[in-house]
Amino acid sequence: MARDTGNLKLTNVTKVFGNGDDKVTAVDKFNLTIKPGEFVTLLGPSGCGKTTTLRMIAGFETPTEGDIALDGKSMKNLTPDKRPMGMVFQSYALFPHMSVFENVAYGLRVQRLSKSEIQTRVADVLAKISLSHLAQRAPNQLSGGQQQRVALARAMVVEPKVLLFDEPLSNLDAKLRAQMRVEIREIQQSLGITSVFVTHDQDEAMSLSDRIVVMRNAVVEQTGTPDEIYRKPNSVFVADFIGRSNFFKVDKIKSKSSGKAKIEVNGKRMEVPAHPKATSTSNPVLLVRPESISVKAAKPTKALGTVTNIVFYGNHVEYSIATKHGEITAIESDPVYDEIVQPGKGATFEFDSSRSWLIPSDGTVVHEE
Ligand SMILES: Nc1ncnc2c1ncn2[C@@H]1O[C@H](COP(=O)(O)OP(=O)(O)OP(=O)(O)O)[C@@H](O)[C@H]1O
Ligand SMILES: [Mg+2]
Repeated sequence: MARDTGNLKLTNVTKVFGNGDDKVTAVDKFNLTIKPGEFVTLLGPSGCGKTTTLRMIAGFETPTEGDIALDGKSMKNLTPDKRPMGMVFQSYALFPHMSVFENVAYGLRVQRLSKSEIQTRVADVLAKISLSHLAQRAPNQLSGGQQQRVALARAMVVEPKVLLFDEPLSNLDAKLRAQMRVEIREIQQSLGITSVFVTHDQDEAMSLSDRIVVMRNAVVEQTGTPDEIYRKPNSVFVADFIGRSNFFKVDKIKSKSSGKAKIEVNGKRMEVPAHPKATSTSNPVLLVRPESISVKAAKPTKALGTVTNIVFYGNHVEYSIATKHGEITAIESDPVYDEIVQPGKGATFEFDSSRSWLIPSDGTVVHEE
């Protein structure tokens, strides 16, 4: 249920901190239009400018250049309290001396709503996040996940046009994090609130978002749906940041037309989907995700590599294979245990060429995380 308000537009948004030798460009010409009700995640390594972007949207930082508009109107002259936005932080930031009910009611009291309306709205939102029974507790009597839900309720209850999240789940354990992801997505979709979510956790980004913005060193590397980012990354950096990757050296590009290239890899000809900038001069590499590769035992004369390690997880097995392209990772799901190729043995591998992606590798550095 998308609303018709909550269109957020960032145009050439730039933030430079300090001056002279201390100058840091934290965000450089950020452009993005977020549709009403859309869930967009900013993803990237530490220090790439995610929080700074979010703080500019909230109004806690002023852009050095560029503009941020909500529903077609610049927010330049609006202080944070005048922007119809709710923010959820990593640290929850609940008021320790107030009950759960009062924490959630706070924004409504500021708006001077009637007692009965406050009562109804807080009760509604607490029910939505299954916390009605804890309304009278103090924050220090709650678990981390419960506190984070209260923070979410407090941001939502004022029915903002935009919800901003800065790594809200990073203090929770893995299981609770996965559960909260589902809850946040459900609540956000049922209310149709435009949302900008910051994380450096790729699983979080993939599972929550309509679109992901991958940032690196203050600039946007790529904006796309989770599928586009995973299957058709713009660069080696994006491919490597999202999920796990194998990069095969390409012997030759024989021809290229309308998004396809005929290439040779391991002496084998194939036609693969290709990035527009993947040309012979761009030092192209072929991206193949581990789950697209299937492995078979092979005699030394036929082998493309030697298995160096296997990890058996029951539902899948993960191979490491030493090849002339370096170490290749392959993941086979639902393996038959007796057919797993053991370490030290020769192996061949295959993949469906339509599941690969040719990308330029010039000027791209594999990130350090
Ligand atoms: N107030 C400030 N003064 C000076 N430099 C700052 C300030 N705030 C952020 N920076 C710098 O701007 C850059 C981007 O910081 P930002 O907090 O936006 O990164 P981030 O992507 O949120 O990283 P993390 O994942 O670690 O939270 C960093 O180099 C940081 O040191
Ligand atoms: Mg941050």
